[in-house]
Amino acid sequence: MLPKLDDFTVTTSWTNSEKSVVHLLESPRGEKVILKAYRRGFTTSMFRAYVASSYVARRLPLVPRVLGFQPWRNELYFSYISGQRVLEWVLQRFGGNLRLADFQSCHGLNPPDHVDPRIAEAFSRFRESVSPEPQRLKKAIRTSYSSLHRVGILHGSPDPRNIIYDGTRVFIIDFDHARPSLNPAAIDYRWLRYWYGLDLSCEADVAETDATMPRTADELRR
Ligand SMILES: Nc1ncnc2c1ncn2[C@@H]1O[C@H](COP(=O)(O)OP(=O)(O)O)[C@@H](O)[C@H]1O
Ligand SMILES: [Mg+2]
Repeated sequence: MLPKLDDFTVTTSWTNSEKSVVHLLESPRGEKVILKAYRRGFTTSMFRAYVASSYVARRLPLVPRVLGFQPWRNELYFSYISGQRVLEWVLQRFGGNLRLADFQSCHGLNPPDHVDPRIAEAFSRFRESVSPEPQRLKKAIRTSYSSLHRVGILHGSPDPRNIIYDGTRVFIIDFDHARPSLNPAAIDYRWLRYWYGLDLSCEADVAETDATMPRTADELRR
């Protein structure tokens, strides 16, 4: 449920697209809430995000919960996911000496033609890396997408701004492009291959790991 937001303040904002502005709201007690404010003309994306996020969050703990929906104000509220976006995770380790803050609101990510060359280069190194840490992250991405696909939802935008890693688990955010699908992996894996070098044939590998994934928020906290 949405907490009373009277004493919450905006501490960070992201503008990754022309569709919306996303704010992190924080209270003096340290509570965090995400507000996604859609611009006029993007009502379909907002409803799509609301329906898909609510559906998935009821079944899987790897997406933010919808805390509130005020369509008359074009506002959607989500639980905050802590961790690092895969964008920053990869740039930090494979991008040389880049200033991560420069990539917070990041528009240079429209593959295959419009990808900032610094990002393209870092992701190419990440894809090729066989070191344990990147391998663990790739496996965690596969596991989460495999869970999402098993509930019949296609994410539609698995770019590294929409995936958050807490060092163990991968969380998927931004359901503006999500939809039900009979074969969700077929489309998502196009981009999962492009960004992370993942392959549809890996889906079978994760079945076993997946069985041990937490199913409820309580299990996740344990
Ligand atoms: N639930 C969340 N927890 C933590 N950060 C989030 C959450 N939702 C969004 N963000 C942050 O806001 C950014 C933009 O949100 P997103 O829903 O992807 O909007 P857009 O449609 O502009 O891509 C994300 O890349 C991420 O950094
Ligand atoms: Mg996004």
